[in-house]
Amino acid sequence: MIEIKCTTHFSKRKATDALVLPFWSEKGKAKEAFKLTSKFENDYSLPIKCADFTGKLGACASLYFDKGVEKRVILLGLGEEDKFSLENARIAYAELAQVARKNDWKTLSLQVPAVDQEEYLQAVVEGVALPNYHFDLYKSKSKKTLLKTIYLVGVKQWNREAKDVQAVVNAVHFTRDLINGNADDVNPLYIASEAKRVFKGSSKVNVTVFDKKAITSMKMGLLLAVNRGSNIDPRLIVVEYKGAPKSKEHTVLVGKGVTYDTGGLNLKPTGYMEEMKCDMSGAAAVLGSLKAIADLDLPVNVTAVVPATENGIDATSFKPGDCYKSYSGKTVEIGNTDAEGRLILADALAYSVKKLKPTQIIDFATLTGAVVVALGEDMTGLMSNDDSLAQDLMEAGSKTYERVWRLPLVKEYKKQLKSKFADLKNIGEKREAGTITAALFLQEFVEGTPWAHLDIAGTAYPGKSKIYHNSSASGIGVRLMVQYFKDKI
Ligand code: BES
Ligand code: ZN
Ligand code: ZN
Repeated sequence: MIEIKCTTHFSKRKATDALVLPFWSEKGKAKEAFKLTSKFENDYSLPIKCADFTGKLGACASLYFDKGVEKRVILLGLGEEDKFSLENARIAYAELAQVARKNDWKTLSLQVPAVDQEEYLQAVVEGVALPNYHFDLYKSKSKKTLLKTIYLVGVKQWNREAKDVQAVVNAVHFTRDLINGNADDVNPLYIASEAKRVFKGSSKVNVTVFDKKAITSMKMGLLLAVNRGSNIDPRLIVVEYKGAPKSKEHTVLVGKGVTYDTGGLNLKPTGYMEEMKCDMSGAAAVLGSLKAIADLDLPVNVTAVVPATENGIDATSFKPGDCYKSYSGKTVEIGNTDAEGRLILADALAYSVKKLKPTQIIDFATLTGAVVVALGEDMTGLMSNDDSLAQDLMEAGSKTYERVWRLPLVKEYKKQLKSKFADLKNIGEKREAGTITAALFLQEFVEGTPWAHLDIAGTAYPGKSKIYHNSSASGIGVRLMVQYFKDKI
């Protein structure tokens, strides 16, 4: 974990690998953003004059010194001041983190404004710390250097807040680790053991794990159906956090935990299966969110519910055309075994409504390829039966830049889920509006509870590199949930 220290002493500091000075870009010319010292004015006037450094967002220029605390000073562009946003701060400092990584730097001094700018500091630290992650478990040799310490130069004290940012970044990295791990390693039993390990000793958290026997006696017929093609038993993991014992508000976060999605008997073709270890990203997001919420000690009541199973293929696999009974009692005809996420979520949602009696439910799931087509890798699909919940999620998303875009629950499309043999079918007749029909299927199991469904199939495991994380798991959902609950307090 990256260490964050504060200092107001500009000259009496310990040397770091680089001192970083932020600049605005004003009419194509760099202008120092926060003046702490005029020490370097003469030195950076030339690169600015030559327009080698214009203060463009994320641009870095290096100056070298014989004397002084550091040998290296980095000029960092924040872009235009009137277009400034917290996301721009994250982007600029994430670019800096990439430069630091390439050069094997371990410590940085960041010049920041002395005035109280809580959100700005948070964005700066997130920008540096979020990309300070690499996943090399399966490399025989690891030689990547990570940043160890950053000094915020110009701030007297920011200890508690810094700890909070560290806790959130840590939870994001925990979520990424779970997703990036081999599907053979991160199986339902492992996710359950991680849930127990992470919350061990936490007095406000209670972890319950239901094994196959318990799941069978609870009659979760859909989770059991999906599990039939796997040689590893399913688990239902319930993590309860009570941060506001006197409050009646209780949010359940449900996360899809398909540890590998082969598609089942409707087997996925080559090119569509290779990334399917990411199909438990919803589970990882809700467990990571709970970890952050508990570490921040937020005064809210939140429970994570994770149905976990592999969607494997075997002689014992569940079959297209057969009907199975859900935990709620509703029966489902299987139109396609690759639409397995909604099946296990249906049992988890119905269980949540019946046993946990929440005031609202938010589910995270890598549910449909259709949402990737509709919204790509930068926008999470949101569907909800509650306008104010949807609004709050969109606002939290624009603050954290884990943006969500609402799609309608078109009631006319419900008839697509009609079955000749059972109460419901798990796929629509046609492929169109696949993200919406999947959500309409889920809605059948929430019984009117205020509910939001986040389809993270595009955002959880992007193929292209993003600014503050390399390609592969993004850890999406954790910062969104922390912001959402902070805004509610
Ligand atoms: N896990 C997939 C969805 C997915 C696609 C996640 C791409 C991440 C990236 C899901 O279980 C699935 O296979 N959905 C099918 C549903 C279809 C059979 C109705 C799909 O989207 O093709
Ligand atoms: Zn599938
Ligand atoms: Zn799936």
